[in-house]
Amino acid sequence: MGGIAIVCGSGSQNLAHRVAKQLDIQPTETRSRVFPDGELDIGVDPGVRNADVFVIDSLGPPVNDHLVELVMLADACRRTGAARLTAIVPYLAYARKDRRTSAGEAVGLAVVADLLGACVDGAVLVDPHVPQMDSIFGVPLEVVSAVPDIAASLAPHVDDDTVVIAPDLGAVALAERYAEKLELSAVTVVRKTRHSGSHVEATGLIGKNGHRRPLLVDDMISTGRTLAVAMEILQEHWSSESFLLAATHGLFVDGALERLTQYPLDGMVVTDSLPAPDLPPGSEVVEIAPLLAGAIRRIHGDGQA
Ligand code: R5P
Repeated sequence: MGGIAIVCGSGSQNLAHRVAKQLDIQPTETRSRVFPDGELDIGVDPGVRNADVFVIDSLGPPVNDHLVELVMLADACRRTGAARLTAIVPYLAYARKDRRTSAGEAVGLAVVADLLGACVDGAVLVDPHVPQMDSIFGVPLEVVSAVPDIAASLAPHVDDDTVVIAPDLGAVALAERYAEKLELSAVTVVRKTRHSGSHVEATGLIGKNGHRRPLLVDDMISTGRTLAVAMEILQEHWSSESFLLAATHGLFVDGALERLTQYPLDGMVVTDSLPAPDLPPGSEVVEIAPLLAGAIRRIHGDGQA
């Protein structure tokens, strides 16, 4: 097999360039145009022939466009003779739809996993929403986590009075991980009910750590409603006066930033798995290029995805 080639999708242009820089290579040239009916026409430089190709594309909004682009980039590389093809998907869309919650529904995650599995030899995911991705994807996966780097960025802002808040039951394991990394003992859980994508309700708190400094952690911020209702209930029950927020993936859709900045924030930490907007003072965007470059080196080095 030849050397490493990095192919950048439009969902990760800047990030993919940073990854290529970490590896001391130039990204492969691509060309893309959209026909008047919306169809994509995509091509890659013939230099990918015999290369160990890594296509980097986050599936942020518009998620379906990025998904089609990713599989078309993979197809272009395959047809051009890539020796091996790995999709690096810093943010995996549809990961929250991992099961049917009512009869008659499609399972979006299974569809995406099947689609990607048909196009690539392996994939790299960053803090995916569900941990059991190996049993869903039919190709070898490398799952990397930004939690240690996010925790390092939070460390100067936490003290013994900080309590880690899981904004729903699904985030408890994540909250425990942050607590361990930050050497904090207290974790509290918000009872959350999601009625729809735009209607989230917090009905109570599990854990008695009142009046301490809340650090709310989640895998992703989409509309910000989960964290907003969590802060609301913390203000109501604990009279909390300021909050720290942390999540790997910041989608910030549907007025999320405006929604979150209505609360007194000490800061917010997200990664650049998706292009980050301007965040409030005290915030930080943690770069995941070193994490992805490390995964690429491991995969290229040991010959397995
Ligand atoms: C849900 O299970 C996820 O972990 C997040 O809590 C949720 O998807 C965030 O979405 P939003 O920001 O729209 O509440």
